[in-house]
Amino acid sequence: MVNRGSHNTGNLQTARFRTRKLSPSAITLYTFFIFAFSIFVFLFYVRNIVEDEQPQHPLLSVESRSEQVPKLHVHDDRLWGSPLNPGLHPCVKPTTKYKGSQNSDHYLTVRSNGGLNQMRTGISDMVAVAHIMNATLVIPQLDKRSFWQDSSVFSDIFDELHFIESLKGDVRIVRELPKHLEGAPRARKHFTSWSGVGYFEEMTKLWNDYQVVHVAKSDSRLANNNLPLDIQKLRCRAMYHALRFSPPIESLGKKLVERLRPLGGRYIALHLRYEKDMLSFTGCTYGLTDAESEELRIMRENTNHWKVKYINSTEQRIGGFCPLTPKEVGIFLQALGFPPSTLIYIAAGDIYGGNTHLLELSSRFPNLVFKESLVTPEELQALTNHASQWAALDYIISVESDVFIPSYSGNMARAVEGHRRFLGHRRTISPDRKGLVEIFDKLETGELDEGPSLSHLVQRMHKNRQGAPRKRQGSLPGIKGRARFRTEEAFYENPYPECICSSRR
Ligand SMILES: *[C@@H]1O[C@H](CO)[C@@H](O)[C@H](O)[C@H]1NC(C)=O
Ligand SMILES: *[C@@H]1O[C@H](CO)[C@@H](O)[C@H](O)[C@H]1NC(C)=O
Repeated sequence: MVNRGSHNTGNLQTARFRTRKLSPSAITLYTFFIFAFSIFVFLFYVRNIVEDEQPQHPLLSVESRSEQVPKLHVHDDRLWGSPLNPGLHPCVKPTTKYKGSQNSDHYLTVRSNGGLNQMRTGISDMVAVAHIMNATLVIPQLDKRSFWQDSSVFSDIFDELHFIESLKGDVRIVRELPKHLEGAPRARKHFTSWSGVGYFEEMTKLWNDYQVVHVAKSDSRLANNNLPLDIQKLRCRAMYHALRFSPPIESLGKKLVERLRPLGGRYIALHLRYEKDMLSFTGCTYGLTDAESEELRIMRENTNHWKVKYINSTEQRIGGFCPLTPKEVGIFLQALGFPPSTLIYIAAGDIYGGNTHLLELSSRFPNLVFKESLVTPEELQALTNHASQWAALDYIISVESDVFIPSYSGNMARAVEGHRRFLGHRRTISPDRKGLVEIFDKLETGELDEGPSLSHLVQRMHKNRQGAPRKRQGSLPGIKGRARFRTEEAFYENPYPECICSSRR
């Protein structure tokens, strides 16, 4: 601003001098002096600001801004506090009937697929599968071909030694297949999704002919429900204890949380899934330009493993299948009662359309923080081309946040919500997108105005969507066959009751 102003002044002065018919070199000299003087004034001014603000961390200049805004009030516990969870605690120890690992010479190799969170839940399930099948698990290969293009191997993302050690009593895990088995014929399996223990016990017949079974995709997940209690607890031990991130990621994650807190104390982690791949996949083009919609359509057309090519965006949105737009998130948070000063960490990759779309959120909530602004250039350098490591940092910051809000219910949203439930029902607000879209449309037509009545509607709609303790929900009524599995609440989204217990028993 200041810079631009002084430049204009310079032009005006030049114009005035010209009328006095000064020689061109004198004009240049004058212009130079005036320019130099404005720079001097500018620097002096900037130095004063810097001295006044004294930021504790050079990257975190937002701090001073958040100090000017009024402090939050105590009654804001309604917004920030954890829902009541009397006497609940994690319980993942095996029961007395549990049989631990065998020193098996049958091996399960796994190629993990999908993004970070899909891989994490998939690997946790494969730990349970290896246990049921009485196999030794070879450290899974990670997906390098997915949308997230990432060359990381298991030990880049996870603490491999800890993974092996902490599951020692459950499954034997080795880094690599023994040399003598490298060339051995393998059974290649695509396990049927939502299978129970019986299915995998049946699969042990494979050991009659093969010593190695290769699982081509780890996302063929176990059934959510009706598994033995000890299998469910094992899944939790794998997911919440064994699959710790690698030490560099864990420590950077902690650092980022520590850098974030001073900017406003409490913070919301907003999983703003307004990314190109998600919009293209869901076919949600509401609020986008024709050119943007077309770009998304072409991406969907060209992505082979996305089966649905034609999507009616309007129907998607009405059905509640679209991620909330940045603008919608802004209206939503405001209606919930969060003040404009609220510190919001954006847990996401690149927001589609960048600032043009983000402005509609930042105009209401200016204290948005992106991880790029939290890391130092050296840290940033180390993370380049490692989408999964970025995602791991988002995961840590989201689990540690005071309030977690996903704008879409994908793998990350489910995994973080479940982990927060496990750790003591930390507040997770899940937008009722179907209900909200109706409200947003009424705002658009003028049937409804922003203000107390909107607030009241939105708050009532989300009274029971704040992550309070409840048992995992079964399938929706009236849905038959395998389709019903998809309507069940996912195991890792809510591991209650198997891995969360009441002390009053
Ligand atoms: C597990 O495998 C080992 C060797 O591969 C075998 O000795 C043991 O009996 C098996 N246990 C069960 C329960 O199948
Ligand atoms: C999409 O669905 C909406 C609502 O059902 C309908 O009004 C509209 O005509 C559809 N658009 C197209 C291009 O089919």
